[in-house]
Amino acid sequence: MKTYKEEIAELLVPHTGLTAQEIVWAITLPQHLDHGDFAFPCFPLAKKLRKAPPAIANDLAGLIKPVGAITKVEALNGYLNFFIDPADFAKRTLGAIALQGAAYGSSSRGAGKTVVIDYSSPNMGKELAFHHLRGTMIGNSLGKLYKRAGYRVVRINHLGDWGTSYGKLIVMFLRDGLKESDLEAMTIERLNALYTAFSNAAKDDPALEDQAREAFQRLEAGDARYRGLWQAFKDITLKELQRIYGFLDVEFDSYTGEAFFLDRMPATMGLLAGKNLVKASQGAEIVDLTEHNLPPVMLRKTDGATLYITRDIAAAIYRKETYAFDRCLYVVDNGQSLHFQQLIKVLELAGFDWYKGVEHVPFGLVLIKSEEGGWEKGKTRSGQSSLLKDVIEGAQEKILGIIREKNPEATNKEGLALQIGVGALVFSELKNRRLNDIRFEWDKALSFEGDSGPYVQNAHVRLCSILRKSAERAGRTGADHPAQAGVGGIDFTKFPEPQAQSLIRTLSLFPDKVGTAIEANDPCPMAQYALEIAEGAHGFIHSCRVLGSVEEKDRLFLIDCARIALGQTLDLIGVPPIEEM
Ligand code: ARG
Repeated sequence: MKTYKEEIAELLVPHTGLTAQEIVWAITLPQHLDHGDFAFPCFPLAKKLRKAPPAIANDLAGLIKPVGAITKVEALNGYLNFFIDPADFAKRTLGAIALQGAAYGSSSRGAGKTVVIDYSSPNMGKELAFHHLRGTMIGNSLGKLYKRAGYRVVRINHLGDWGTSYGKLIVMFLRDGLKESDLEAMTIERLNALYTAFSNAAKDDPALEDQAREAFQRLEAGDARYRGLWQAFKDITLKELQRIYGFLDVEFDSYTGEAFFLDRMPATMGLLAGKNLVKASQGAEIVDLTEHNLPPVMLRKTDGATLYITRDIAAAIYRKETYAFDRCLYVVDNGQSLHFQQLIKVLELAGFDWYKGVEHVPFGLVLIKSEEGGWEKGKTRSGQSSLLKDVIEGAQEKILGIIREKNPEATNKEGLALQIGVGALVFSELKNRRLNDIRFEWDKALSFEGDSGPYVQNAHVRLCSILRKSAERAGRTGADHPAQAGVGGIDFTKFPEPQAQSLIRTLSLFPDKVGTAIEANDPCPMAQYALEIAEGAHGFIHSCRVLGSVEEKDRLFLIDCARIALGQTLDLIGVPPIEEM
């Protein structure tokens, strides 16, 4: 079925000299409901037609006759406003939701295209810190959004599993007299402690740094014992990592970390040398980017070791070869912008025209209040705890207290508290624009009011509970889901109230919001949209009684559609769409 925008475009094409697609893109939504449902701005036509936009709008209003569901065309302040028959609008919007259900908002925008998304990608040997949550959840959400838009998505965790830190861990492990037989009982906490102990000990004993470098060299050279320890350290961290990802319901298609690319280093160096890009510089090998106003890229150090960026170059080539991607996104904090500029430039200079599809998707810092009251980025390796697991557990505990008090009957309180806690943390990060730094405040994040996770989850719970009560009244178990039966028997003229109209209009925006989020590579518009639906749903429920009303059947249908749209929105941003709380 055509969208309203497409129908409007058809009417406008003969009079504007624009293509239907251009018109569809230009159409906006009026600020006020009484200005119609869609608006076509005439400003871009002013130059071409040598006329003021209000005059153009007036002319067009005289030329275009309303047809079908378009009931009125009106010029206002340089805009051409289109009014849609409310019953038709409701039928199309709610009909699409009922028909598509969990696939609402799907499109073919990305058909045949592949997008690789690199996110989370933490360094091994230490625990996830709270600040890892943001990139992890932005990437997770982008993966879902791109899938919804029809792309093939490959989710990659580019683990930081190579580098001198492993030398440090090995040095400390051996220094503490530990042996392979101790690995069984080794925990992630112990590993973290070894790392912290190294930092402290190295302050008094600088020779330790040399030992760590030597240990790493042995590791790089393939020393069997060191490789065994490294693998064990990696396995321990991975296990813990997956436990946390389990809480967050985050998944990856591949865990090819940095070490995976080690045996591709010679070929990568050879390839770059073949393009005359590699220069010797004081015993090291670099790519000189002076001409491009970027600092040089060090590919190989004097001791022969390759670097983070060398492995990223190899990884990008590998991804192109393996997945034939159209786009490759790196969701990594904006502190690494220079690294990605260099990476993309090297790919370009190496003659890979696909460098154009490679993109850094940076995000701002998450600041937490320090003990002194200032705002700072949490650290993990220095030992002060702002570990993600502690923050999640903390959130869960606080919520559990509230549930015990307010809803002592709830079953599986711990599980519920975890889902609300996770929802609160995730929402507090994604509701902000990706590039903004954010100041995390417990009270705001966990509040059941205001723009918080618990608030949007609660709106979903309310919708679910009406559907449950409806079933209960009819002596059925579970919840009623009238949308599953389709639009048959629903009277779409039964939504005259402004609150119903406004809710339906909000629900109609879902597909556009998915598009906006993808264009900005930012889940934020989707998180904001969850708030809009929540408000719309509360408004409707507050002013229109559902159960026991004359319009019960139609209103229940609207409630179910709102539940689907809100549930899907929450799922797309990684906030658990819980059904009770
Ligand atoms: N491991 C890196 C870090 O923790 C992030 C890796 C991002 N991905 C990449 N392909 N460079 O800073």
